[in-house]
Amino acid sequence: MKALSLNLESSSKAKYVVIADAIRQAIKQGQVAPAEALPSARKLAEQLNTNRHTIMAAFAELVAEGWVEAKQRSGYTVVASLPIQSSQNINKVDTKQTQFKWQFVRKGIMQNPIKASEFKYNFAGGQPDLRLFPFDEFRGYFSQSCQRPQFDDLSYGDSRGLPELINQVSTYLRRMRSITDKEIMICNGSQEALYMVSQLLLQAGEKVAVEQLGYPPAWAAFKSSGAQLIPINQDEKGIIPEHLEMQLKTNSIKLLYLTPLHQYPTTVTLDAERRMKIYQLAAKYSVAIVEDDYDHEFHYKCQPIAPMAADDPLGLVIYISTFSKLMFGSARIGYVAANQDLIQALAEYKTLMNHKNNVLIQQTVSRWMKEGGFECHLRRMTRIYQKRRDITVNILNHYQNLGLPIKFKNPDGGMAIWLDMGKSIFGLKEKLYAKQVYLQTQLEFDLNHKNNKQENSAFNFIRVGFASMEEHELKQGLKLIFSEVYGAELQERL
Ligand SMILES: Cc1ncc(COP(=O)(O)O)c(C=O)c1O
Repeated sequence: MKALSLNLESSSKAKYVVIADAIRQAIKQGQVAPAEALPSARKLAEQLNTNRHTIMAAFAELVAEGWVEAKQRSGYTVVASLPIQSSQNINKVDTKQTQFKWQFVRKGIMQNPIKASEFKYNFAGGQPDLRLFPFDEFRGYFSQSCQRPQFDDLSYGDSRGLPELINQVSTYLRRMRSITDKEIMICNGSQEALYMVSQLLLQAGEKVAVEQLGYPPAWAAFKSSGAQLIPINQDEKGIIPEHLEMQLKTNSIKLLYLTPLHQYPTTVTLDAERRMKIYQLAAKYSVAIVEDDYDHEFHYKCQPIAPMAADDPLGLVIYISTFSKLMFGSARIGYVAANQDLIQALAEYKTLMNHKNNVLIQQTVSRWMKEGGFECHLRRMTRIYQKRRDITVNILNHYQNLGLPIKFKNPDGGMAIWLDMGKSIFGLKEKLYAKQVYLQTQLEFDLNHKNNKQENSAFNFIRVGFASMEEHELKQGLKLIFSEVYGAELQERL
């Protein structure tokens, strides 16, 4: 019996595990063939300068894994049926050239390699100021969830979400958004809801009407079912019902995706007249409406207009909202309010995907809501964001007064301003990276542009997210943006 050449890796693992790893490697390399005997424990102990018990423990490990078997009188042998020859051949060929080739049949969303949160001036619209989140208070509620765990809730179970949180959300929706007659389900953020809705309601080739300027992750969710997107034109009042009707007449549209309160990305609030017209069209053509109310809590002018879901006698509105703006995106708490049949189907689909949301987080949020911390944070952040909106408007007015041809409408709510720069913003985003400024531009939100149907020169808008920065940051960040676009011209006017 020839000795094995064993390569003992230096690691923090137990010695017998390291020896088992080395023997396994020697078997894979073909140093000892199937059915051949391994060196005895005594010999290996001598070779490795250790005791026999350690070697026996290593053998026992390999026996348990199915590499080695113990034979009476002949000691330990390699399992005869191990297909070592073939795996040895695989090891010999150039693995780079023969890597397994995946044939993908679906596509997800490409992750942005640029991380907005790493920029000093992050104008990504809809980014809350995480520095102001009451983590200490939240930690208290989280500790309570861990100190007194409800074992029943911690196992699998109702995919609709934790009943206490559903109760809190339903009270909140009734009080703040006048939604009274819908069932509620908690999900992993709005994105999961959008994905599940598209999986449940759309077949390949079916059509979804969307605002021409919109939210690409929602489009991606619809497209994941093979659906086709039909862009609907919008003007300064939002989506145009007449254009929607034209599309409904000529296309068999299954779903309509809308952001009525603060249109994404233009921030326009869809007025009551258009809402009613759109609802009537949806009823006439049997189209369900997905209402994405992503930042309802931040409205400054007055009480925000109630969601379309609050006046939905036919039950055709699927209302989706999120805590990503009041809390943070990675909390992954979103919810759907819809009629019972749809919520039941969504719950069944969620069971298939991931059973349920993280229960400890749900318990924490529901305690936070019950004790009033949620509403207190909401009121505080609304005041702060309103102030930041006003500061941003003042800064923009200042540049307008300097004669820059910029235009914007002071938004009634939300976390961003849709700003016409008065000039093409082509390439602006990339140029600003070097200045530590992160910005989203019209190009990213335009479905026609994404479908390569429009001239590049028509893009003048940027989305100025003001919520996550303080006054000095807003001032400096906007100065960098205007200097980049207007350079010498601006210097002359200053
Ligand atoms: C239009 C829109 N919908 C939904 C969301 C929130 O998504 P989620 O709840 O998946 O974090 C956002 C966040 O940026 C958004 O802008």
